[in-house]
Amino acid sequence: MRVIRSVSGMQRLSLEWKRAGVRIALVPTMGYLHAGHLSLVERARKAVGSRRKVVVSIYVNPTQFAPSEDFSRYPRDLTRDLRLCRSKGVDILFVPENADMYPNPPGEEFSTYVTEEKVSRGMEGASRPTHFRGVATVVAKLFNIILPDVAVFGAKDYQQAAVVQRMVRDLNFPLRIIVSPTVRERDGLALSSRNKYLEGTRRADALVLSRAIRKARAAVSSRRNGSLSAPRLKSDLRRLIAKVPSARLDYIEFFDPGTLVPVSTVKAGVHLALAVFIGNTRLIDNARL
Ligand code: PAJ
Repeated sequence: MRVIRSVSGMQRLSLEWKRAGVRIALVPTMGYLHAGHLSLVERARKAVGSRRKVVVSIYVNPTQFAPSEDFSRYPRDLTRDLRLCRSKGVDILFVPENADMYPNPPGEEFSTYVTEEKVSRGMEGASRPTHFRGVATVVAKLFNIILPDVAVFGAKDYQQAAVVQRMVRDLNFPLRIIVSPTVRERDGLALSSRNKYLEGTRRADALVLSRAIRKARAAVSSRRNGSLSAPRLKSDLRRLIAKVPSARLDYIEFFDPGTLVPVSTVKAGVHLALAVFIGNTRLIDNARL
């Protein structure tokens, strides 16, 4: 496994591979890797045949964090990430620097952004207004630098995957997006680099997200033939979340999994997503009902 830090070095190698007919699979991450990230690496390896290379990028992208958010304290452990990637047969670890990704010389500052204007509007986009602009921009940059044939994203960030899919289609990026299932702890907590922030009893409190999903699923299956009112089910779930003193609901939404448009009645096949602060830690989760 090679570690590449320069944008031009990575792009040169990708172009060489392209000319040689090598297929490239990319897993973009912000590092502090866990089993969820590693499941994407496995999926990437399977996605491209024998003449293939798997690239993992690790970059804590400043443009997707608002000034009030956790950019500076976002967990980082490159030594450990390196070891994990090597053990998973990753070919290239791309770890670019801020100055290379977002050049900032006076008068020549970075000034081009990608904005998706439909699926990015609600939920995460409403709570974090500049977030998806940052995500779409950095992902577009990574695609242009690494030239992947396939890129793998996690269903854990369902709306993010939808935004990326829309961008790829609308801007004609010549690659395929694969969305891979959410990996969870045994007790239901979705793996996340931010789980590191959960101290003491907060770890148990965080189970309220997966508990809410279970409750919604149970409500849907107990009404096998009918549908449920979304506002009604939302207030049931709000009550469930309010029972945990450290939990503060940011949003909960039922929506069409294809268009991400909110629905007013809930039945099997509808998608649920929620964001909850556990203390100061903002966690998200989602599932198909
Ligand atoms: P990060 O949060 O590091 O996540 C990288 C990828 O791992 C994303 O596609 C995410 O959905 C996936 N992932 C995270 N937790 C997962 C889990 N429990 N199961 C399955 N997949 C999981 O998402 C980002 O970074 C950034 O926004 C990025 C796309 C890299 C752009 O900066």
